[in-house]
Amino acid sequence: MKLQLNEEQRMMRDMVRNFAEKEIAPWSQEHDHEGQFPTQLISKLAELDLMGIPIPSEYGGAAMDFLSYVLAIEEISRASASLGVILAVHTSVGTFPILNFGSAEQKQKYIPRLASGEIIGAFALTEPNAGSDAAKIKTTAKLEGDHYRLNGSKIFITNAGHAGVYTVLAVTDKNMGVKGISAFIVEKDTVGLKIGPPEKKLGLHSSSTCQIFFEDALVPKGNLLGKEGQGFQIAMSLLDGGRIGIGAQAVGIARAACDAAKNYAGEREQFGQTISDFQAIQFMLADMATNIEAAKMLVYQAAYLKEINMPHSKQASMAKMFAADTAMKVAVDAVQVFGGYGYMQEYPVERFLRDAKATQIYEGTNQIQRIVIARQLLKQ
Ligand code: CAA
Repeated sequence: MKLQLNEEQRMMRDMVRNFAEKEIAPWSQEHDHEGQFPTQLISKLAELDLMGIPIPSEYGGAAMDFLSYVLAIEEISRASASLGVILAVHTSVGTFPILNFGSAEQKQKYIPRLASGEIIGAFALTEPNAGSDAAKIKTTAKLEGDHYRLNGSKIFITNAGHAGVYTVLAVTDKNMGVKGISAFIVEKDTVGLKIGPPEKKLGLHSSSTCQIFFEDALVPKGNLLGKEGQGFQIAMSLLDGGRIGIGAQAVGIARAACDAAKNYAGEREQFGQTISDFQAIQFMLADMATNIEAAKMLVYQAAYLKEINMPHSKQASMAKMFAADTAMKVAVDAVQVFGGYGYMQEYPVERFLRDAKATQIYEGTNQIQRIVIARQLLKQ
């Protein structure tokens, strides 16, 4: 693995950084405080071909590698972690299920619309009683003639209410355990699909999170993804890629918090000098920068392994876990550097702290990542 980005990757990073600084960052604070879903910014992402970065050109995607996609998520999340997760979920667990497991017909029908940003993708696995223990989902899908009848509910669904299409995991045979779970493509206008009100969250205020309900929702038989019973494996393999994206989101948040702390420390004067002259502050900044570099390397390495089709489950979990813990630690310390001002909503560091917390929880808690890593280690 080369430790340098190639020209295409550098161009992607610089283009998105420039766009994020000019067009996203100025709105992030306002969108967060008002809980506004950034529809206009998503349209701009679509104009820049960023809604289908790693999607092949035959489906209207930008056909770039997975590391380029990860760099884009990092830069966007540095400006707005909410927009970062919207794009990460749309791409890695919203579009990839159909790209990787869909039939030719399903791909033709949905991927060009997802890759162009005409519709947003979402992923519905988690249920009120099946979070970390994802195999215990209870939503059922019963085949009746040409349709599956879905009943049950899903919780904490990112992009819900704004998505055009959901990848939904449901039980088709309750006697088969994980082998009885199947995946379905469910369109937003499906009769019997109901979206709950937006959840009130600690952070990520301008992303959408809702519960969704299936009340005798009829999904065409042709919308089964892969084969019956393949759903859990589909979900797990998607999450491997998804976790790399969340790692990149966490790196973006950590960088934003570190930059803010560094700039503030260089301006704030106490005891007749800037606080950056104190070793207590310098050590915090040094730790932040070191952990961010380490997190980046883990995330980029996992992205590279995925790109070259090498096993990357362990590396994805390591990257997500370390980057999320780094984002949280850096954000906590950034608030400390800002002192009382850091605790106020007027400054962005309290938002970074609230947003960072989600990265330790979703796409598998950091405790689940440790289980994945330990299982892989013990298997080797
Ligand atoms: N790729 C492919 N298949 C996999 C796999 C992978 N990475 N991991 C496991 N599987 C397969 C296994 O091979 C096994 O199949 P076989 O029996 O044929 O071998 C099957 O799946 C079951 O695997 P496990 O025995 O490991 O299953 P488990 O019940 O012990 O669960 C778990 C494993 C890792 C704990 C899993 O439940 C898990 O990842 N939980 C966390 C759930 C999660 O990440 N949710 C995220 C929701 S999406 C989200 O958060 C999006 C957002 O909004 C940001």
